[in-house]
Parts: sequence; structure tokens; C-alpha cells
Amino acid sequence: MQENICIFVEGGHKLSGEVIISGAKNAALPALAAALLAEGEYFFSNVPWLVDVFTMLELLGRLGCQYEITREGLYLDTSNAEETLAPYEIVSRMRASVLVLGPLLAKHGKAKVARPGGCPIGKRPIDLHLKGLEAMGAKIEMEHGYIVAKAPRRGLCGAEIFFDFPSVTATETIMMAASLARGKTLIRNAAKEPEIEFLGDMLCAMGAKIKGHGSENIYIEGVKGLSPAKVDIIPDRIEAGTYLMAPAVAGGEIIVKRANPSHLENVLASLKQLGLTIEISGDEILSRRGKRLRPIKIRTAPYPGYPTDLQAQIMAVLCTVKGVSVVVETVFEDRFHHVEELKRLGAEITVEGRVAVVQGVKRLQAAPVKATDLRASASLVLAALGAEGVTEISEIHHLKRGYESLCDKFSKLGAKIWEAPCQS
Ligand code: UD1
Repeated sequence: MQENICIFVEGGHKLSGEVIISGAKNAALPALAAALLAEGEYFFSNVPWLVDVFTMLELLGRLGCQYEITREGLYLDTSNAEETLAPYEIVSRMRASVLVLGPLLAKHGKAKVARPGGCPIGKRPIDLHLKGLEAMGAKIEMEHGYIVAKAPRRGLCGAEIFFDFPSVTATETIMMAASLARGKTLIRNAAKEPEIEFLGDMLCAMGAKIKGHGSENIYIEGVKGLSPAKVDIIPDRIEAGTYLMAPAVAGGEIIVKRANPSHLENVLASLKQLGLTIEISGDEILSRRGKRLRPIKIRTAPYPGYPTDLQAQIMAVLCTVKGVSVVVETVFEDRFHHVEELKRLGAEITVEGRVAVVQGVKRLQAAPVKATDLRASASLVLAALGAEGVTEISEIHHLKRGYESLCDKFSKLGAKIWEAPCQS
């Protein structure tokens, strides 16, 4: 039987040094899916080697792609990608697999993609993806747990699409599909995340005609064909934000390298308000803990608001900040599972609906805790860095989906953190 591996963190060690930020998971996944839009050879640099990225590569493999990983990056060949079925066995492991739906439909006129199931942080429907594709002429049916989509004989056609909510992956689905559709598409109330701007740039490099990506109105004029491109994945702003918060719990001073500070404006403003010293120099960001931290109010929102993917981490920090802090989650309806685990470490948090009130305590105390989702697992690592004793974090497969070499990176900063068979 395979042994369960946990992360152990001995709290109370001051941090110092530098950490290099990896490429963004949420940029790499749509970029890999977008490669299905054109046949040929791609090269991707700055790819984060994460479980989610390998899952997407496995899916692309099933669709007929071939790839090779080298020291320089990822070579992907889509020349024989003729398959249009994304099986449940893969989609059930990673919701973002649904990103292949738009490209498959636009390129081959048909796609059969397993419907993603439930998710620990909320309902996460895909109605916006499907309505957008239907507005472009797609016929979509649900058959035995699969989304079966067909484009009309002459292919998808451009349309004006309004999103009730600026969904990130729905915006990406429509951008990719519209790039190969007949005529013009306008996406209104589109998501504005840096990963959207990045995907738009990649599609343009492949020959797509897109304007306005990164703003709430995206204009796409469909083209007949696209060709492969060289793609450099943008830095992971969520990983950067997580490390920048660490001195707040462990003390000390660190420099985050190869980040993009302009993607982190809201986060950096919050960290300054909290009392951290933040200094920017090119693609490097210094974070230093001064004497006193202050309680703050955080409200997650679509970009450029405070990211929901950094909500759990800031809450871990606020657990030991004297006074009362408030965290409001507006993006997902059920994203407070980390609260019960933080409470096991001695945090005082009350939740009512989408609002969490954090009463700062003097110190957290180590305990066995369980990671409940990807970002929640990072929040437990942060909390443990400041806690008294050795914290044991189980279910760390969540963490591996989104943080590259987390233990190594924190160890190099002076933290005592290691992986070993679970004890509790
Ligand atoms: C992406 C990110 C994820 C991040 C999230 C919000 C990727 C691969 N994942 O997820 O890390 O937490 O953005 O920043 O990029 N919604 C609908 N109908 C839909 C789609 C979404 O109602 O068809 C709702 C969701 O339930 C949720 C909200 O919109 O409440 C935001 O979700 P969305 O932006 O779509 O998140 P993802 O794209 O799945």
C-alpha cells in the first residue's frame, strides 16, 4: 500500500533570502488547450511542472498530441490531434479540462467532453461556457454525463455574448472558439485577469484577430486558420502573493523574483495596509515584516479586485494580527473550508455566510490539520510557519496541483518544512 505523505512545518523560524516564482498554472492550462486550435509544433517556456499541468498534458495526449519535456521547456506537437473526446477519468480529476471544449468544437466542429462534477469551493457551473457557445450556433446536449457539442456545417459564427458574471474560464472558452469562428464576436462583461490578457496575446501570436483582451469588452474577428507559436508563460501571481505574505507570519525579509508586480497591485496594497514593507524593483518584490501588523478588511472580487485564490492565505496571516479583521468572499459561495482547520491551530474565526470575522490571537499552536483544497493548503502552510511546534498537514495532493517545489522554496528561505509519511 502506498504510504500517505504529509507536510511537516516547525513554526517560528525567521525567513530571509530569495524565491523564484514559477509560471502561472492558470495561464499554462488555457495556453495548452489553445494549442489544439492549430496543427504543428509549439514551444512553451516557463511552464510550471505541476500535477494540473501534467493532467492537461495527459488529456492532450489522449487527443492525439505528442510532447517532450526538456530543460528549456515543453515541445508540443498537435499535428495528429484528431480525437475529440475528453474522458471523464481525466476531467473528473481537474475541472480546467473543460478548457478543451471551445478549441475542439471550433477546430473539428464537434467535441464530447465529460461534464465536470462538484467542487469543494462551490457549485461552479459551466452554464456561461455553454450559453456562449450556443450563441455562436453550437448545438449542445447532455448525454450520459458528457457534454456533446456540435457546430453547424459551416462552423461556429460570431455573436455578441454578455456574461452575467466575468467568469475566467468561460471568457477563455469563448475567446478560443471565436478565434476560428465566422465573423465577429464581442464578449461583454469579460473577465479581465492577467491570464486572459496572456491568452489573448498568445492567440494573436498564432494569427487570431483579438482586441480589448484585459478589458471588459473583447472583440474577436474570426480567421480561417491559426498557426503554432512560441509561448512564454507569465509568472504566477498567486504563488508570488503567497510567498510575499510569509514574512508576516514568520518574520524576516524575503525577495520574490521573476514576478509581475503590475498583476499584484491590489494584493500589494493590502499587504502594505497590513503593515508589511513592500518594495518593488523591476520584476522583484521585497517583503519585510516591521514590528506591528494591523487588522484589515479584505473583499475578494474579479480582477483587478483582491483575488479569491489568495483569500485563504491572507486569512491565515490575519489569525495572529491583534484586533478584528474581516474577510468577505464574493466570488465562490463555499470557500471557507480552511476556517475549521485554522481553528484547530487556535485561530478565532466566526463565519456568517460569505463573511469571516477574524479575532487575532497572540500565537497559533501546531496541530494535525487537513488540506481541503488547493489554496486552503497554502493557507495552512502559512499558518504553520508562525505556529508554536510542528504542524502536520495531510491531503497535500491539493497543494501539488498548484505550488511547484513549495517545500524546497520555503526551505531555501530558512523555514523548517519537509515531507514525510503522515504520523497522525
Ligand atoms: C478560474 C481559476 C481559479 C480561480 C477563479 C476565480 C483557472 C483554471 N482557474 O476558475 O483558480 O479561483 O478563476 O478567479 O483559471 N460561474 C458560473 N457559471 C459559469 C462559470 C462560472 O456561474 O459558467 C461562477 C462560478 O460558480 C463562480 C464564479 O462564476 O462563482 C467565478 O468562477 P470562474 O471565474 O468561472 O472561475 P474558473 O474560471 O472556474
